[in-house]
Amino acid sequence: MLTKNLIRIRELSREDILDILDQAESFHNILDRDIKKVPTLRGKVIVNLFFEPSTRTRTSFELASKILSADVINISKTTSSAVKGESYKDTAITLKALGADYIIVRDTNTGVPELISKQGPFKVINAGDGSGEHPTQALLDLFTMRRKTGRLEGLNVTIVGDISHSRVARSNIYALTKVGANVNIVAPPTLLPVDIEKLGVNVYHSFDSVYDKTDVLYCLRIQLEREKVSLFPSLKEYATLYGVSSARLKKFDREVLVMHPGPINRGVEIGGDVADSVGSLIEEQVRNGVVVRMAVLFLMARKGE
Ligand code: CP
Repeated sequence: MLTKNLIRIRELSREDILDILDQAESFHNILDRDIKKVPTLRGKVIVNLFFEPSTRTRTSFELASKILSADVINISKTTSSAVKGESYKDTAITLKALGADYIIVRDTNTGVPELISKQGPFKVINAGDGSGEHPTQALLDLFTMRRKTGRLEGLNVTIVGDISHSRVARSNIYALTKVGANVNIVAPPTLLPVDIEKLGVNVYHSFDSVYDKTDVLYCLRIQLEREKVSLFPSLKEYATLYGVSSARLKKFDREVLVMHPGPINRGVEIGGDVADSVGSLIEEQVRNGVVVRMAVLFLMARKGE
């Protein structure tokens, strides 16, 4: 059951995940209407507390909230009292005093959404915390995969790149393994967390092992901002060994679907022509983010009734 907060995919069951995807599916036609409005969250205050930059997640949470008729307030770090030294706890207490019903939290530090949630009764959704989790990204990714292929169970998903620093990879691994997908990881040893195999994935250091077992190829952004020291010799070498180019795609034994959470580094982890190709689901992922976030807010509101 989707509990009061959504902080980690780990806390959801397979049924919870499928409920959210089914709910998102039922919202899909709303986006095609002239008037995109449903009254579920009328009178509710949603605060987008984004202390780390975002284009996709922040905008789609704002759109989802507005379609559900909530009042939305956006707060960024540089324009908040955080720059004067206000703590996370006092920020949360302040937002509670101002009547926040939901706080959607993005932060560079792992664990901040949970810390903020302790000042409830407002509900908290994790919109990406450091190298922790990004649960709604994983949910929209599964939604996109299921819409495109008609299944999740038995789907062969290969995740490529910087697993160590990627909250997207972590949430996707938890979600995909829960719904019965086969997950392959391709990454250099320096970009892999210790004991990654314990999460139920197959780990490889080169593409050679996955050319015959991939339906979906999920590329990750190289997160230079989270690396304290360089973990590979050069971007050029990384692109040669782990980048997804159109030449590389020809080596697979089937037409693979290409995904990326964005923002992309063209020519590093993904070729520009691959990102723009018909097999790329990147724009579809962004579009699907709105209905999946609507579904999460809707189910959390229903749980609170
Ligand atoms: N995928 C993702 O989280 O993108 P943003 O950083 O633009 O929100």
